Amino acid sequence: MRKILFVCLGNICRSPLAEGLMSEKIANLGVEDQFKIDSCGTADYHIGELPDERTRENALQNGLELKHRARQFDPSDFKRFDHILVMDSVNKMKIIGQATSEEHLQKVQLMRDFEQEISLQGVDVPDPYYGGNEGFQNVYDILDRCTENLLSYHLQAIEN
Ligand code: 4NP
Repeated sequence: MRKILFVCLGNICRSPLAEGLMSEKIANLGVEDQFKIDSCGTADYHIGELPDERTRENALQNGLELKHRARQFDPSDFKRFDHILVMDSVNKMKIIGQATSEEHLQKVQLMRDFEQEISLQGVDVPDPYYGGNEGFQNVYDILDRCTENLLSYHLQAIEN
């Protein structure tokens, strides 16, 4: 079982979308029994809320329904998950700051480390919260690519 956690700031825009896309791809392949997928935020602003209406609307336009309820990262997540994908470097620092072992640290990566194009690797997933509507499709496209590559990486690891 591969246990993967997606993390952003509020857990209402980027990380619940990454969770939804990853879960959809896993379901399409019929390998749900091999994965546990979740998302959370570093902040407590939106605990219990559904994703942002603009994120949900954009996802629906792309055929994806998001039902996640926001929760905040907890240090116990270092034990509960094997791979922690963070949407930007500021939030990655917040997660790393809560690690208490080298093993924890090794679980944390930036989401865009899974870009194929080298010049995009390690770049932040832009926060669409304060921007216009076009920002949401941009984030969707980034996360669609990166979750596809992330899934390939894990499927390959399972095979080997
Ligand atoms: P997210 O976007 O981190 O992708 O969920 C944000 C959501 C809410 C806020 C900031 C970013 N906020 O400041 O409330």
